[in-house]
Amino acid sequence: MYNTLYAQVLSRIDPEAIHHFSVQMLGVAGRIPPTRALLNSLFSARALFPKIEVGGLSFAHPLGLAGGFDKDGRCLPALQALGFSFIEVGTVTPQPQPGNPQPRLFRLPEDHALINRMGFPSGGMVTLGERLKRRSAVDVPIFISLGKNKATELQQAAQDYLTLLDHLYAYGDAFVINISSPNTPDLRKLQTRDYLASLLEQVMTKMRELGPGQAPKPLFVKIAPDLSWAEINDLLDLALQFGIMGIIATNTTLERPNLSSPYQSETGGLSGQPLRQRSTEIIRHIRQHTEGKLVIIGAGGIFTGADILEKLEAGASLVQAYTGFIYKGPAFVRQAISQLENRMRQAGLSRYQEIGRL
Ligand SMILES: Cc1cc2nc3c(=O)[nH]c(=O)nc-3n(C[C@H](O)[C@H](O)[C@H](O)COP(=O)(O)O)c2cc1C
Repeated sequence: MYNTLYAQVLSRIDPEAIHHFSVQMLGVAGRIPPTRALLNSLFSARALFPKIEVGGLSFAHPLGLAGGFDKDGRCLPALQALGFSFIEVGTVTPQPQPGNPQPRLFRLPEDHALINRMGFPSGGMVTLGERLKRRSAVDVPIFISLGKNKATELQQAAQDYLTLLDHLYAYGDAFVINISSPNTPDLRKLQTRDYLASLLEQVMTKMRELGPGQAPKPLFVKIAPDLSWAEINDLLDLALQFGIMGIIATNTTLERPNLSSPYQSETGGLSGQPLRQRSTEIIRHIRQHTEGKLVIIGAGGIFTGADILEKLEAGASLVQAYTGFIYKGPAFVRQAISQLENRMRQAGLSRYQEIGRL
């Protein structure tokens, strides 16, 4: 049904208008207990295998929602009812900001892809904090993705991340340092050795201050797929040195590998199927280089159970999707998890954790 609706109606409407409409509708549906229960009964994933434990958090299955869909935490109960086992909100910036001028989101259906140059439109940390404080009926882990404001100079960027942590630490179960969006000028320079060492040191000190006497909440760094192997190795060595829990691999790419859509030359980050292979390759490399010492969350081109399996086999403990959800619609998680579990049963597996050891 969603495929017909998509082909006949949704594909003809401006993608960002649909996005805002969907977030609003999901927000309303999630606040009303009967519609939330209906979403839950229609779409929630029936994960049959034991939960996955990562960083003291518990996940019903490996598939979560990637950063950028619910930037301001507007529809968490509905997203949980649609079956995601964790939700990353944000990327949020300290001050509200409008992002780049529209149009800034493009559909490339021929390529099963999107290009976006949103530029972190954000209601800011105060609004997000208020919403998360009031959140009820959400018990999946909430990750908060942190980004710097466009107006903040690179030299002051660390301060933005510290301010965000100060304000939001109480409201998230895990945090993501987003230094890999291609749409905020110079942001990706924070992935280079000197900037990153200083940023990670300050952020980890802040995390320890905020939870005195306890283990800090899990912290992840989200990386770009366009880094060289040497740059990735530098980044991984620093992540190990500073005690970061893991890496989210990957954000969108600036590459344009063999696309057919007329929108292929739009500026911005490409997501979806054309990114799948590169992100899996990076996951495999991270596992090898760190000998499995960092937790890996895989993102990039997940549409089906087979795509999830590929990332788990490469070394990811969890995965996230954005573009697959847009194209597949509300039944996305349920279908993908049921496909994954069928394949696992065929292979004689009964725990997600066994997959990487095949
Ligand atoms: C419209 C759009 C907005 C995004 N915004 C963010 C963001 O704010 N923060 C972030 O870390 N990633 C953002 N991403 C990247 C996704 O989280 C994800 O890493 C990437 O799209 C690859 O996964 P996919 O192929 O499943 O979409 C965005 C992606 C899209 C398509």
